[in-house]
This record gives sequence, C-alpha cells and structure tokens, in this order.
Amino acid sequence: MSSANTDKHLIYLDNAATSWPKPPEVAAAMAAYLAESGGNPGRSGHRLSIAAGRVVLEAREAVASLFNVDDPFRVIFTLNATHALNTALFGLLQPGDRAVTTAMEHNSIMRPLRELERRGVEVVVIPCDTAGFVDVDRFQHELAQGARVACFQHASNVSGTIQPLELLVTAARAAGSYTVVDAAQTAGVLPIDVTATDIDLLAFTGHKGLQGPPGTGGLVLGPSFDPETLQPLVRGGTGSRSEFEEHPNMLPDRFEAGTPNGVGLAGLAAAIDVLTKRTVRRVRAEEQDLTARLQLALAAIPGVRIYGPLDPSLRTAVLAIRIENVAQDEVGLILDEEFGVLTRVGLHCAPAAHRTLGTFPDGAVRLSLGYSTSPDDVDRTIEAIHHIATCAPHPPNGLDAVGKHLPSASEKPL
Ligand code: ALA
Repeated sequence: MSSANTDKHLIYLDNAATSWPKPPEVAAAMAAYLAESGGNPGRSGHRLSIAAGRVVLEAREAVASLFNVDDPFRVIFTLNATHALNTALFGLLQPGDRAVTTAMEHNSIMRPLRELERRGVEVVVIPCDTAGFVDVDRFQHELAQGARVACFQHASNVSGTIQPLELLVTAARAAGSYTVVDAAQTAGVLPIDVTATDIDLLAFTGHKGLQGPPGTGGLVLGPSFDPETLQPLVRGGTGSRSEFEEHPNMLPDRFEAGTPNGVGLAGLAAAIDVLTKRTVRRVRAEEQDLTARLQLALAAIPGVRIYGPLDPSLRTAVLAIRIENVAQDEVGLILDEEFGVLTRVGLHCAPAAHRTLGTFPDGAVRLSLGYSTSPDDVDRTIEAIHHIATCAPHPPNGLDAVGKHLPSASEKPL
C-alpha cells in the first residue's frame, strides 16, 4: 500500500495500555522529588525523609479525594492495578470460598482467580452479551447462591464496554458478597465515588487515565470495609512499630511494606492535580465526543467491523475493530509505519473478553483515545483506516474472510 504518512506527527491511540504524553507537570514533579526530597518516606527523622513522606501523603490525599474516600489511609499504594487486584483476591479468598466474575475480564483478574481455583476456590464466570455487558440476572442469581467475592472490571480494556457499576455493587451488597472493582480503565476517565457507590475494594492504576507514571497504582478500601478482613500480600519494613517482628495492623502499613515509589507518587500527585483542575467530567465529555466521531465514521467504511456497544455513552474511549481481508497485525503495522497511528493489536491480555466479543483467537485492532487526542488525530485515523480497508483484497464469493488469518504475531501471551 502507498505511504500516506509524510510528516513525523504521531497519533497515539494506545492510551488503554498507558497514557502518553504525560502532562509536563508530572516529569517536573518527579525531577523535583529526586532533587529536593529524595529521602526514604516515613523511615528516618531527617528533613529529606520528612519531605519525601509529605509527598507520599499528598499523593494519598489526592487519590482519596478523587475517589471520595474521607480517610487517606484507606488508599493503599501498589505497583499497578494487577498488584492491587492480587492483594484483594489473595487476601480475601480461601479454599472453599466462592468467587463470581464476568466473561469480559482481563488476565489481571482471571489469572489470580485461576490460581485460587487450583487451590480450592470455586470460580463462577458470568456470561456477557456480544457487546460485552454482563448478564445482570445471572450475576444476581449466582451471588444469591452465596459468594464471598464479586469481582469485575468497571470497563473493558478491549471494547470499552462500561458495566453497570452501581447495579452490580448493589446486587453484591444485597447478597453479602465483597466487591472488588477493577478500575484500571476508568480511573481518571469516568467519575468514581467509592463512598456513594459503597464499593469494598477499588483497584486502580496511575499510568493510564490518571496520566501518572508507571509503577503507581493502588487499592482503595471503601468506608464500610473492615481492613482486618483482608490478609496482606506482603509483609516487611514499614518504618512503624519497628520493635516488633510481627507486621503492624494500622493503615496503610498493614498492606504496604518496603520503600514506596516516592518518585512515582510525586508524579501521580501532580497528574491528579492537573486532572482535578481540568475535571474528570470534562475529560469524559471530550473523549466521548471524539469516540462518537470516530465510531460513526468507521461504521460507514465497508469492511470495517466495530466491537462493543453502539452507544458511545456506554463505552470508554476504546474501540476494537477488525478490517476484513487483512491480517489484524498487518493493520497495526500499516497504521504505525505508514500513518503514524499507534494502536495495540492482538488479544490485549484479555482472552476471555475476545471470546465474548467473537474475536478470539485472532484478536482485534484496538484504538484507545485519551487526554491528548485531538479531532484532527481522529480524522487522520479515519482516513488511514479508510485507505487500508479500501485497498484490502475482496474476499472470494460467499466467503467471510474475517477470522481466517493467522493469530497475531505481535501479541505476547502476557
Ligand atoms: N492492560 C493494558 C492493555 O489493555 C496493558 O493494553
């Protein structure tokens, strides 16, 4: 195919993997932390340790405020959402317990659950429709049979499908199950109120919608959740109660051990400050408009199939597409090399979601918009996809070529 990319402008549509570029305030705060407050937070009594501790506390307060939790010590910092979900699932579930989840989950939920299943936890996976929405009646029915934990994503990293969060949490609460919500794709993208929604445990990452650096994330404990219900995943030095060899129970130390990622948390606090000034509602409104523009135009291109909800208000700024008669990894390569459009192709660490959407095992091309995506970026992406779809060879008569390509070579089995 002929090259259409004549300038160096990159169109970054991989914000569901990690947001880019970060606001300049993030790098500035991280550099300032290393230069000015690089002691070990909460460990020593000297000024640099105290300065570092203040930065970590500010990050904790910023997260607590963003998710509307009164007590900042109910924010537990982790490396990422996966680490937070492992903390929640391994900390709550014992052999003999039952856990209910959905058929759209990322491996950050499915892999811990499959390991727990191997250890004697019963795992029930509730089917979802082809747009990715969970069957709420089945979800309620299974919870009514008894389940210690209901865990599910707020929105899909593959199709952007937004689950009915309040409905699912209410159902779990009515059944006496703990809720573990994976907000990897929605923190900073959709407003989330942990207190009003009465979520027990919310797992988030700092490097996607929050615009912070990688290596930041956490688990937010809802106001009615008893921390002693949850066993810590790691134990060790906390800088507190150093006279004891037993791990302390106080928050946040119960769930945090070892030197925290102070430099990352400095960046996260700065990122949340930028986001709070712009407001999550405004970011959401802008991303929804751009998603609608992209979705409408792509739907009109022959040979392009879009997966997930038709209504852009029911999805985040994430679209999974396939172009007929072209291998999906080739689509990703052409978008990158010829048009400067950066996407993620394959199974997106979410084979369950691709099975549900009907895109397993070949996967799909995922376009994920973000904070910095412009209308011009969207229009250039539409032109690029139009070009690729129009140049694709026609299928032999009576044959649907979709699904007949080799599995994506670029997909790593993560
Ligand atoms: N979970 C991330 C993604 O969906 C990495 O790309």
